[in-house]
Amino acid sequence: MTLEEAKKKLAQFGQEHVLKYYDELSGDERAALLEQIDAADMTILDSCLHRENLGGKGVITPLAAMEIDEIEANRESFTKTGIEAIQAGKVGAVLLAGGMGTRLGSDNPKGMYNVGVTRELYIFECLINNLMEVVRQADTWLHLFVMTSDKNHDATTEFLKEKNYFGYKADYIHFFRQEMAAAVDYNGKIYLEDKGRLSTSPNGNGGWFISMKNSGLLSVVHSAGIEWLNVFAVDNVLQRIADPCFVGATIQKGCAVGAKVVRKSAPDEKVGVMCLEDGRPSIVEYYELNDELMNAKDEKGEPAYNFGVILNYLFREDELERLVEGKLPLHIVEKKIPYIDENGCRIKPESPNGYKFESLVLDMIHQMDSCLPFEVVRGKEFAPIKNSTGVDSVESARELLRQNGVTL
Ligand code: UTP
Repeated sequence: MTLEEAKKKLAQFGQEHVLKYYDELSGDERAALLEQIDAADMTILDSCLHRENLGGKGVITPLAAMEIDEIEANRESFTKTGIEAIQAGKVGAVLLAGGMGTRLGSDNPKGMYNVGVTRELYIFECLINNLMEVVRQADTWLHLFVMTSDKNHDATTEFLKEKNYFGYKADYIHFFRQEMAAAVDYNGKIYLEDKGRLSTSPNGNGGWFISMKNSGLLSVVHSAGIEWLNVFAVDNVLQRIADPCFVGATIQKGCAVGAKVVRKSAPDEKVGVMCLEDGRPSIVEYYELNDELMNAKDEKGEPAYNFGVILNYLFREDELERLVEGKLPLHIVEKKIPYIDENGCRIKPESPNGYKFESLVLDMIHQMDSCLPFEVVRGKEFAPIKNSTGVDSVESARELLRQNGVTL
C-alpha cells in the first residue's frame, strides 16, 4: 500500500493520527507500518462506540447434558469407540495458546508458567503429560496443533524446542499463528504501540480454524485422515485431552460437536452455560443469565442451565470446513493496552484503557447442528489458571493438582 492509499483509508475511518510519526521512521519501518494499515480491518473499529447494537440472544431453552451416571454406565463402550478412532488417526488436538494471559501478569506465554513448587512443572508440560496418557493408552501418537500469536510465537516455539517438547514426538507438533486485530482507545482510535506500529492484539480464540486453514495445516489434517479436532485452552492444567471416552460418546451420539462441561458450583457462578438458542446449540454467558433462566428447573427438578463449559470441545472437522467462512459475532473487550502517548513515551497502563476485538470459540457451537454436553468431574478435570491468586489461580490449580496426585 502506498502512503497516499494509506491516507485515504485512514481518512475514511478517522484514523489519520497513526501517521503522526511517519516522517521520523526509517524506510523499512515505513513499509511495515503501511503493510499493517493495509491489513487492518478498520470496518469493525467504530462498533465499540455502539456496543448496545451488538447481537442479542435468541430464545433460550435447556439442552440436557450427558451426566456422569450415564457416562459411567457406558464408559467401556464409549472408550472402545474413542480408542478405535484415535488408533485410526481420526483425532487431532488443537491447543489454543495465542492469548495474552494478561490477568496472570507474566511477561512470558502462559504455557511457560512454572506451577511447580519443589521442581519445575510448566503449564505446557502438564498438558503434554495429560495427552501422553492417551498416547500410551492408544499406543499411537496424535497430531497436536498449537496456535500462537505474533506476540508469543517465538517464545513459545523456542521454549518447547528447548524442553524437547516434554517428550512429545516433534513430528506430531505443528504451530500456526492466529491473526491480530487493532486495539483502540475508548473513542475508537487505534493506539500506536510504537512510532511505526499500530497496537494490535490477538483476535480472540474463535479464529483458530480459519488461521489453521490459512497456515496450510489442513493438508496435514487431510493426509492424516483427521475427522475430529479436540480444541482446548492452555490454562486448564487438569483437563483430559483427546479423552477416548468423550470422543467415543460424541461419535456414538452422532453429534457435530462435543463440549466438556462441569456442574455449576452455584447458580450465579461466572461460567457460560450450555443451552439451545432458537433451537440450536449455544452457550449463554453468565452475564446474560437473567433470574428467570437462573431459577428455571428441568423435569427432574434440577436447575435447567446447570452445566458450564470449560473450553474443551471436540469438533467434527468436515463441519468446520463447511462453516469456515461463516461470520462469528464480534466481542469487544476492555483491556490494558500498552501505547505511546502524544509525547512519544511508552505507557504500560495499570488498568484497562481501551478495547480489543475478538471472536470466540464458544460462538462456533451455535454454528453446529447438534452438540453433546458431556459432564466431567470438576475436581478431576477443571483447574484453570487465569489469575496468580484467588479464584481460578495458580494457588487453586496447585491445590487441585496435589489432590490429583501430581507432585509439585
Ligand atoms: P482467555 O479468555 O483466558 O484469554 O483465553 P487470555 O488472553 O489468555 O487471558 P487474559 O484474559 O488476557 O487474562 C482462553 C483460551 O483461549 C486462548 C488462550 O490462550 C486460552 O487458552 N486464546 C485467547 C487464544 O488462543 N487467542 C486469543 O486471541 C485469546
